[in-house]
Amino acid sequence: MGAGIAQVSAVAGYATVVREVAPTVVERAKAGIRKSLDKFIEKGKFTAAERDAALARLTFTTDVSALRAVDLVIEAVPEDLELKNGLWRELDRLCGERTIFASNTSSLTIGAMASATSRPDRFVGLHFFNPVPLMPLVEVVRGARTGSATLDTALAFGRSLGKEVVVAEDSPGFIVNRLLVPYLLDAMRALEKGVATTADIDTAMKLGAGHPMGPLMLADMVGNDTLLKVAEIMFAEYREAQYAPPAVLKVLVAAGRFGRKSGKGFYDYSVEPPRAVE
Ligand code: 3HC
Repeated sequence: MGAGIAQVSAVAGYATVVREVAPTVVERAKAGIRKSLDKFIEKGKFTAAERDAALARLTFTTDVSALRAVDLVIEAVPEDLELKNGLWRELDRLCGERTIFASNTSSLTIGAMASATSRPDRFVGLHFFNPVPLMPLVEVVRGARTGSATLDTALAFGRSLGKEVVVAEDSPGFIVNRLLVPYLLDAMRALEKGVATTADIDTAMKLGAGHPMGPLMLADMVGNDTLLKVAEIMFAEYREAQYAPPAVLKVLVAAGRFGRKSGKGFYDYSVEPPRAVE
């Protein structure tokens, strides 16, 4: 998601620094951004000159100190509080006191990260949706100690990306994932119970409920590894069965079937169109 967020930021005119952990990930991010911008050109929504201007606003690095002078940091590292807070402590020492910190977390609370820094008033949630360049929503999350000026800046930033913004209070899952995650997990439970095949569950929800894609293909797009982490965090918080990760999700993740990004999940993406692996 980090690459997608960097892309929409650069397209909106912001000089954007992308910090990744390794050169291979930098290359993957660069290629992903280029591919996405090219897709918009193919669809006639973008010119080559606009693509080149956006690419010119992007700087890629593996060096965290390149973030020293930025106005806004948007973190999109995996859903692991210790990992995120280790990074926030480092950034808190590095960045000027005016820098706003924003997390793209799906399921952790803003408060749990803000309290690891000396700037809880300048800490906010900016939660994007996959695929970031296409999904028109940003949830702006107000932590208990988020200042009103920070919230206003985050709202203005989200709108400046051309996104619709909604304000959510700071509870795991915010608005969308609180409702979406149980639905995706229920689709897996239906599959486990033999209610229907993967392909038929997805076709049913697409054509019977008007969803752009079925729940199992959507899980593959979000990433089954990400979804498992999100479900575990939400289950630990709410202790409600609807958030408990089903066995099939754990089995897929253990087998490295993370979904679209690994080439296989509920579907096999090596063929076009992707084929359900029943
Ligand atoms: N940039 C990036 N990806 C692009 C793109 C672009 N410019 N244009 C298209 N795509 C991608 C699609 O993901 C898909 O990938 P593929 O080509 O590699 O197979 C393909 O391109 C489909 O392209 P289409 O032009 O046919 O696009 P559609 O009109 O079918 O729309 C969609 C695709 C927007 C993904 C639509 O199916 C959709 O809205 N799906 C639901 C997405 C959703 O619910 N997202 C939220 C997930 S929850 C989340 O992210 C929160 C997190 O915290 C877990």
